[in-house]
Amino acid sequence: MKIAILGFGTVGRGTYDILQARKEALEDLGGIQVAKVLVLPKEVDRCGLDKDLVTTDYQEILDNEEISCVVEVTGAKAQGFVFMKEALERKKHVVTANKAVVSLHLEELTSLAKKNGVHFLYEAAVGGGIPVISPLKAQAKLNKIDSIEGIFNGTCNYILSNMLAKGWSYQETLKKAQDLGFAEADPTDDVEGLDTMRKLVIVSSLALGFPVLEDQVALEGIAKIQVRDINYFKKKGLKVKLLASFKRQEEAYSLLVEPALMDLNHPLYGVDREINALGLHGDFVGQLTFIGPGAGKYPTGNAIVCDLMEIANSKERAFAFGQAQGTSQNNIRASYYV
Ligand code: HSE
Repeated sequence: MKIAILGFGTVGRGTYDILQARKEALEDLGGIQVAKVLVLPKEVDRCGLDKDLVTTDYQEILDNEEISCVVEVTGAKAQGFVFMKEALERKKHVVTANKAVVSLHLEELTSLAKKNGVHFLYEAAVGGGIPVISPLKAQAKLNKIDSIEGIFNGTCNYILSNMLAKGWSYQETLKKAQDLGFAEADPTDDVEGLDTMRKLVIVSSLALGFPVLEDQVALEGIAKIQVRDINYFKKKGLKVKLLASFKRQEEAYSLLVEPALMDLNHPLYGVDREINALGLHGDFVGQLTFIGPGAGKYPTGNAIVCDLMEIANSKERAFAFGQAQGTSQNNIRASYYV
C-alpha cells in the first residue's frame, strides 16, 4: 500500500519512523510505503527528507493513482477537513489524528468514506497511543453504553501532575509539555479544555450512534488553577484532574469537561503525567477501563500505523499467530523456568 503523509510535525515524524523501523514486519500485509510527504514550502529544506519524497502540492498526491491512502496529520482545522474530503472523494482511504476535524465532521466524513468504498479511521484522535476508538465502536454495537469517563488531554494531565508532584508553576510546566511534543500548536486548545471537549464529542457520538454537538458540552479548562490551589487540595488527600464525562439516562445525555477533585478511591486517581484513560460502562460488558500514553510522537504515530494496518489487513490476509516484535523462541521463557 502506498501512502502520503500530510504534515511532518510530531505525529507525521512518529508515523514515518515507525513505518521505517517496522518495514519488514509489515511486509506480510503487502508493505506500507510512504510515497509522498506534503509539507509547507518553508519546510522543504529543513524537514530532513529526501527531495523526491517531499511535495508542496496536494494535487500531485490526489492525482497519483498509486497512492491509495492519505494520512492527515497537519493539525490544521479548515485545511485538514478539505484535505480529507478531497482524498475520500478521490477514493483514497483516510487516516487522521485531527480531533478538531473529526469532532465537527465525523458523520459527513464517515458517510463520504462509505459512499466511496474506502476507510476513514481516526484511532489517533483520542487517547494518543491507547486503542480506544476501535474497541468503543465494537462495544457500542453490542452494548447500551450509559457512561464514559476519561482523562483525554496529556498536556493538562502533565501540567496538573507536575504542579502537584514537583511544585512547578503552571507556566513552566506548560513549557515542558510543549517541548515534549504533547501540546497543540496553540496550547490554548489544551488548557482551556477544547481538545478534551472534542475527544469527548467523538467518543460520545460513537457511544450514541449519532453526532453530538460541541456546544452541548459544559466546558471549563485548567488555565485558572494555581499551585496554591493544588497544594490546598493535596493536604486533603485530593488531586485535581481535567475530567471528561458522558452520562446517558433514559432519554437524555449530558456532556461535561471540568477540573474534578479525586481521592485515592477514584479509579483514575493514579493516572498521572501525560497518561490518558477512558472508562466506559455498557449493559453487557460492564465496566472497561483503558489506560496508556495519551500524547507524544511515538504513541500517536503508533495509533496511526495501527489504522494503516487495519486498512492493509482488510485487503490482505489476517495476522498469523506467532508474530510479535522482539521475540524469538530462544530469547524468552515462562518465568517458572528461571
Ligand atoms: N495536545 C494533545 C494532548 C495531543 O495533550 O493530549 C494528543 O491528542
